[in-house]
Amino acid sequence: MNHLLEEIEKSREDIRNFSSPEKDAAEAFRIRFLGSRGSIKNLMGEMKTVPSEKRREVGQLLNELKIIAETKLEELRGHAGESDQAKQPQIDATLPGELLPLGSHHPITIVRNKIVSIFRQLGFAVAEGPEIEDDWHNFTALNLPEDHPARDMQDTFYVSHSTSGGEDWMLRTHTSSVQVREMEKGKLPIRIICPGRVYRNETISARAHCFFHQVEGLYINTDVSFADLKQTLYFFVQEMFGDSVKIRFRPSYFPFTEPSAEMDISCLICGGKGCSVCKQTGWVEILGCGMVHPKVLENCGIDSNRYTGFAFGMGIERIAMLKYQIRDLRIFSENDLRFLKQFTSAT
Ligand code: PHE
Repeated sequence: MNHLLEEIEKSREDIRNFSSPEKDAAEAFRIRFLGSRGSIKNLMGEMKTVPSEKRREVGQLLNELKIIAETKLEELRGHAGESDQAKQPQIDATLPGELLPLGSHHPITIVRNKIVSIFRQLGFAVAEGPEIEDDWHNFTALNLPEDHPARDMQDTFYVSHSTSGGEDWMLRTHTSSVQVREMEKGKLPIRIICPGRVYRNETISARAHCFFHQVEGLYINTDVSFADLKQTLYFFVQEMFGDSVKIRFRPSYFPFTEPSAEMDISCLICGGKGCSVCKQTGWVEILGCGMVHPKVLENCGIDSNRYTGFAFGMGIERIAMLKYQIRDLRIFSENDLRFLKQFTSAT
């Protein structure tokens, strides 16, 4: 009996002084004192040896011991949680997050989107086509005779070039090929613009590159006239460069249009007085245009007695150079962030 009282007293001491190097000290404590084979259970098992008149007293001591152990266990569990938390970095969820660096649109994309949105106002839809083209869509359908200099390997990148009458494949030299594809679909009227990348085998310089971007346009309907073409392009120039810019048309030659013209705008730098950008002429050329050649319409299965149309084509780089006063075309494809970061979509 005395032995049991001593044991209880010793357990009380052990509980009070308990400490453990183990990671989960609370669990080690629970197993040692409160588990199914723990010391308190053992002591309770001894109750049967206690004389009946002392049972009440000893039972009370054991209950107290259990409560002390349970309190200690709670304490250990609480501390365990606390120390785990202390190890975690303190997070303040109200702080603003780290900003992700935002990219900006490439100036060519900005200008392309602007051109597209201007023509959309006039009812033009965007049409796209493949960058690798066959001879028919890039040249033949567009009335480029066999011996036309543009077919020369100097100007065209051939993917496969056949001298024995097989198929020629090339990187398209203009997006007029997309216009051919649209005309061949046979759904009239047609009112489309064709933005896209084009390739020419040119020596790279400040004014020429082996690839660049174009927006070409095509309108085919009954009774389309050169006056419609002029007015459409005039609207475009005013929207793109402002009301004060003047336009003029010069006669020109393209195999796929007749009559053909090139359009100039009054120089944005000197306002038409003459400077180095406009080579003292007061004018800068921005696009080629004309009435679609009847042969081209026929090649694409359109009745040229019933339908007429106009077409135009411009280089996006050229428009961007004028708009942002950039002197060297090469900078558009060098991916220099110092250059690119100056442009935002709103510009
Ligand atoms: N396809 C011509 C070029 O790439 C541009 C153009 C299009 C000219 C339509 C006239 C009419 O240079």
